[in-house]
Amino acid sequence: MNSNSVHQLAFIAGFKLLAEHVLMNNEAYYPGLEGVIAGETEISTVDGGLIYRGYPIEELAEKSTFLEVAFLLLNNKLPNQEFLADFQSILSESAVVPEPVLNFLTEIPLHSSGMDSLRTGIGALAHFDSQVDESTKDANLAKAVRLLAQIPILIANRYRITKGMKTVPPNPELSFAANILYMITGKDPSALHEKAMDVSLILYAEHEFNASTFTARVITSTMSDMHSAITGAVGALKGPLHGGANERVLEVLQEVGTADNAEAWVRDAFAEKRRIMGFGHRVYKEGDPRAVILRKYCQELAEETGNQEMEKIADTIEELVRSEKGLPPNLDWPSARLYYYLGLDVELYTPLFVASRIVGWAAHVIEQAENNRLIRPRSRYTGMEKQPYKIMSDR
Ligand code: CMC
Repeated sequence: MNSNSVHQLAFIAGFKLLAEHVLMNNEAYYPGLEGVIAGETEISTVDGGLIYRGYPIEELAEKSTFLEVAFLLLNNKLPNQEFLADFQSILSESAVVPEPVLNFLTEIPLHSSGMDSLRTGIGALAHFDSQVDESTKDANLAKAVRLLAQIPILIANRYRITKGMKTVPPNPELSFAANILYMITGKDPSALHEKAMDVSLILYAEHEFNASTFTARVITSTMSDMHSAITGAVGALKGPLHGGANERVLEVLQEVGTADNAEAWVRDAFAEKRRIMGFGHRVYKEGDPRAVILRKYCQELAEETGNQEMEKIADTIEELVRSEKGLPPNLDWPSARLYYYLGLDVELYTPLFVASRIVGWAAHVIEQAENNRLIRPRSRYTGMEKQPYKIMSDR
């Protein structure tokens, strides 16, 4: 290397340092990382509506099944008949949870929530996955499919254990959505129930850099493994500002009780400055397109199951929160009552979100691992100036 090149390199390095310094001193800081582009992805976008790998969710919800969408998100293309059949059969073969993990589900205290036991269950599965520390694309895809098949078993078994019911093994003849309902309730669902569940799974599957997906990507960026990333993501999803909102929504609807109580309940919530679960979104300020799709299924199911009163409560609350606070509902608003109309108990709602979002998380884990750089931002220090150290006897 001649002295010119050395000078050039030194200049570039110096410029880089200077640029970093200027940025730090400008303190470009956005609380909650609002609006910050924290990475690149080919998996989905929320610009111009929600689009998975180039396909708008409206079309996927109407024309695809959840399994086709899962294949699309993981493999970057819609499957043809043959690929879908293969995917389905690999999934059926993977629907096995090791005996010690199944037994462990019975040992967790009965009062532990569905999300806590699911998080522990996924962590426990890692010990039995022979590829746990392999992070090639093939190994990650294989682990993603195994988790997709195993998670519904963890959810349904744990639920039935807490209710003192015998667990129901998966039925390979059923679709993914029908199987979940079957393992939870022990009954084959109707075509409408199957479709409603399927659409909810499609809508929950992926959402670019939301908090749980970002958690999974941060964990992956340290070159950790798929199970660790997914376990962390489950923890992030549990919170009521994220996936945990769907369980809180049902509690609100039940607390309100009748449509006549709805307005007073909302006005009290406003007066007490309470957050109304199922409303607002960091990105969708004009409305969440997923909520619009699912609402139609809520109305149809409410009609079928005689739950029109709950629909009226929901409509009254929605109208008031939108007109007085400018907050439209997000996906968790209709999904809570959809699951209720499907006859599902509330502790299943956030775990069902996991049963679907595992696909989006896994796609992001794979994408992050393929083109990795450690995610390590900076913080703005707001603590004390340097202090003179006091020895113990002087404090
Ligand atoms: N109810 C009442 N006020 C609200 C709500 C709400 N649901 N959402 C936002 N606001 C108010 C908030 O109080 C704040 O008011 P002010 O400026 O007077 O303090 C203002 O709107 C901005 O709130 P923010 O928390 O800074 O906004 P954000 O972009 O961080 O909010 C959110 C996003 C989802 C955390 C928030 O809308 C929220 O808490 N919603 C309720 C929980 C929920 O439904 N979560 C599900 C999210 S979407 C799907 C999913 O991930 O599961």
